[in-house]
Amino acid sequence: MRNTRVGLTVLVPIFLLSVGWSCAAQTAAPPDDTTVARGKAVFEQRCVPCHGAQGKGDGYPFLKPPPADLTSFAVRNKTDADLLITIRHGHPDTAMGSWRFALTEKEVWDVLAYVRTLQK
Ligand code: HEC
Repeated sequence: MRNTRVGLTVLVPIFLLSVGWSCAAQTAAPPDDTTVARGKAVFEQRCVPCHGAQGKGDGYPFLKPPPADLTSFAVRNKTDADLLITIRHGHPDTAMGSWRFALTEKEVWDVLAYVRTLQK
């Protein structure tokens, strides 16, 4: 019992630190070329049918509401956090579905990094 206690007081902080560190590392990681390249692959496979090859929302424009123009001023000015939420959870009552089960968390970040390059 005593050993378990000691073990926990050591292991729990180590665990929390490593979780914290990996989250921090994820937010801080600047998108490099490989991230963008991976994001491009995801985008072409998953997002182009609706958002179009350039992300202008012209892939399948007959939806109501139509796919967002990801290069628009409005979307360009949204924070990464906002866009990540939409990509993960979708927009209710629109064709924009939730990608958090189809894509890994890494792929969600990669695809956002690629979307940011379309906005330049
Ligand atoms: C089935 C069609 C469809 C697919 C596939 C799709 N989207 Fe969307 N997306 C939409 C629609 C429609 C909207 C607009 C929702 C609204 O107007 O509220 C949207 C909105 C968005 C927005 C929010 C823009 C804003 O104004 O905040 C982002 C970001 C986005 N999509 C990214 C993606 C990414 C990345 C993928 C691929 C992983 C993807 N979408 C795949 C239809 C789609």
